[in-house]
Amino acid sequence: MKYIKKKLTIENVKVDYIAKKYGTPAYCYSYSKLKRNIVNFKNNFRSFSPLICFAVKSNTNVNLIREIKKLGLGADVVSMGELMVAVKAGINPKKIVFSGVGKTAEEINYAINKKIFLINAESESEINQIEKIAKLKRKKIKVGIRLNPNTDAKTLNQISTGKKENKFGINSKTFVKLVNKYKKSKNIELKCLSVHIGSQILDHKPYEKMLKSILKILKKVEYKFEFIDLGGGMGISYNDRQKKLDYGKYHLAIKKFLSNYKSKIIFEPGRSIIGNTGTLVSKIIYIKKSGKKKFIILDAAMNDLMRPALYGAIHNIIPSIKKAKISKQNHEFVGPICESTDSFLTLKKFQELRENELIVICDVGAYGTSLGSNYNLRPKPIELLINGSKVKIIKKRQKHKDFI
Ligand code: LLP
Repeated sequence: MKYIKKKLTIENVKVDYIAKKYGTPAYCYSYSKLKRNIVNFKNNFRSFSPLICFAVKSNTNVNLIREIKKLGLGADVVSMGELMVAVKAGINPKKIVFSGVGKTAEEINYAINKKIFLINAESESEINQIEKIAKLKRKKIKVGIRLNPNTDAKTLNQISTGKKENKFGINSKTFVKLVNKYKKSKNIELKCLSVHIGSQILDHKPYEKMLKSILKILKKVEYKFEFIDLGGGMGISYNDRQKKLDYGKYHLAIKKFLSNYKSKIIFEPGRSIIGNTGTLVSKIIYIKKSGKKKFIILDAAMNDLMRPALYGAIHNIIPSIKKAKISKQNHEFVGPICESTDSFLTLKKFQELRENELIVICDVGAYGTSLGSNYNLRPKPIELLINGSKVKIIKKRQKHKDFI
């Protein structure tokens, strides 16, 4: 995004034009950013050519996933719905991994029928269930076991998954037991050790610790895994002051790991692929003055973008047209939903704003639409993919009649 003659543009398209033609609120994705993110991700880990499975939960738009597929990625899914969307987008089932703590028998059956690459089991009961289903089908199923490495990802508590108090994965003691139980199984092919310690990780040190824990446990089991699935979690900068994940150091730590344990690596990145590609264009409905504060009431709300309400996450807000005049007052950007948490951001100063003007909420590509809902019976926004001067509708604006 950049300002050309004071007008904000996404690739070569003016935000004003988008709003006029397609209405607001509108989710807009930049294709060139998406492509750049994927190329960079591959380059960062080129030395060991990992299998990169896009975490579909971060964005479930089938047209976006189709582009991601064309750029060479597989998929990491956590439900039957996500598996369906990945298949519909044309992702080769041999590049699909299925994670999640509570896969039902129906979901396991479906995954087996689709011949996906790997099911990552997260409990003893689940791996027993997979074996039972595989036996009935007279098949040998490729399974990964998700280890809980008891590593603090040093991220928001709500999106931390690798500590022993989190519900995810299997502790080291049970892990060893399960490897011994299943290493010679007729219906389970133990293919992979998997981990995922959390999301929005900006420090490489938790990853180093995680790799050390994995190595420690691998030394305890007499079994050779072909694959190690390191999950996703790579963070992005939501503002200029935020530090950046040092991919060089993470890469180095993995190289060190691989020199001790020769294997193939899988990644499941979501946010780092799609996060900074998305913006939410929204119109100011009203401006309400209240004492020393201004409420900027937008036509986008927490149902369109949950992250601020859910985690106190900060997404920058910028105007669609730059003006010189600054108003030094608290500006609270809020949505129209009947909840006090329906508030995106408060800024101490902002340029003079008027009703009907447009603003843009930044970096909403990951966990934006996918966490969206119809709360207050609000229709979901239109989604657009912008490539150079071309704008393509990749999801129509929902109509009230779609859900009433
Ligand atoms: N693999 C597994 C097993 C996961 O649970 C997740 C995310 C990922 C991969 C992808 O992680 P990423 O690369 O996107 O960090 N709704 C929260 C994020 C929840 C992440 C859940 N798991 C947010 O908006 O920040």
